[in-house]
Amino acid sequence: MSDRREFLKFLAGSPLLLAYPGFLEAFTQAPTGQGAAATLASAADALDVYDFEAMAHRVLPPAHWGYMATGVDGEETLRANPRGFDRYQLRVRRFVDVSRIDMGMELFGQRFTSPVMLCPVGSQRAFHPEGELAVARAAQARGQLQILSTQSSTAIEDVAKARGGSGLWYQLYTTNSWDVTAKLLKRAEAAGCPVVAVTVDLPAGRNTETDQRMARIDTRACASCHGAAGPGGDGRAAGIKPMFTGIDMKGVTLTSATLTWDFVKRVRDVTKMKVVIKGLESADDATLAVSSGADGIIVSNHGGRATETGRPTIDALPEVVQGAGGRIPVLLDGGVRRGTDVFKALALGATAVGIGRPYIWGLSSFGQAGVERVLQILNTELRLAMVGCGTVALKDITARSLIDSRLRM
Ligand SMILES: Cc1cc2nc3c(=O)[nH]c(=O)nc-3n(C[C@H](O)[C@H](O)[C@H](O)COP(=O)(O)O)c2cc1C
Repeated sequence: MSDRREFLKFLAGSPLLLAYPGFLEAFTQAPTGQGAAATLASAADALDVYDFEAMAHRVLPPAHWGYMATGVDGEETLRANPRGFDRYQLRVRRFVDVSRIDMGMELFGQRFTSPVMLCPVGSQRAFHPEGELAVARAAQARGQLQILSTQSSTAIEDVAKARGGSGLWYQLYTTNSWDVTAKLLKRAEAAGCPVVAVTVDLPAGRNTETDQRMARIDTRACASCHGAAGPGGDGRAAGIKPMFTGIDMKGVTLTSATLTWDFVKRVRDVTKMKVVIKGLESADDATLAVSSGADGIIVSNHGGRATETGRPTIDALPEVVQGAGGRIPVLLDGGVRRGTDVFKALALGATAVGIGRPYIWGLSSFGQAGVERVLQILNTELRLAMVGCGTVALKDITARSLIDSRLRM
């Protein structure tokens, strides 16, 4: 805490302030949640996921906080995601036997403790030395779905092992080289991943202002996540991630601006993994996903880090569910901070509901124990919502469980 105060004092007198007006605001941008004042001695002390947000803000270096917190442009979509859930209210039901609540979720033949899933987040060793391994151990201990990013800072084989074999899904960035993409798919399949989530919401760049502003003020070298042997060798430039080890990366970019729907078929042709498309927000695309042979959809705007639409994912969910027409499962992420948010997404047709930042806050604060506590908190909140609404299993959560405050029905 005092380090931080010292640093702010230093900033106040720094010429950097003149060079980059606005960055102090970005740096001091306090966590927005209710737990902003909390100090945690252990993960068990956290009462909600916001407690971990406040803690993460304290312990993370500015550049790493900026990478996690950033949206794009003016961050309208980032703010819209959590607020979108406020439009809906829960319809309670009484005199239902709620002594046994079953939150179990089944997807593609796998069974999970609850529909809460851990979304792919890159470079997790930037948040805790154990990074993806800590997250995998938490997912394994709690029986939750985890998706590993192409940008993982830990080798996929090690993460799959920590997750206990078949539980880990793989997230694919498509790259601009089919040869490289096919190698990534083969490696994920060989590691035992049953499902690949193909992220399609970043075809050609983005403008992450908070990330850039905070990287500018953070001059430390950080070999633990960038690798001292990375380009420049100073621990600051992004190194080659383990997923690309042994691959010739000359001219290869993470995504491609030329891809069209036939890409889904190409993926299907080279892998037995189920193919889920991550980053859809419209009924038309949902219909195309089905006709292109996708096995599932994740409604996502990359946590407000892709196109600056200003539209929360929860508002996009109903039309995607309609476009999918019950033929393939629809999952959702973006702004989920409470068990009641999970409940609302389920009521609007989601099969599973993902979190990104909340578990990264837990990871940053206490490693595996923090991620586990985040999962426990959300599951407890979801259970209480199910109790209050008299929905004893996930299938009982329907549109009737919600009131749309805009429509009053
Ligand atoms: C720091 C960070 C890194 C991310 N990295 C990836 C990634 O590598 N691949 C991907 O598909 N999505 C990535 N995402 C998006 C998440 O998978 C997810 O869609 C989003 O975080 C959900 O929103 P939430 O953070 O509000 O819960 C990232 C998100 C964050 C915050």
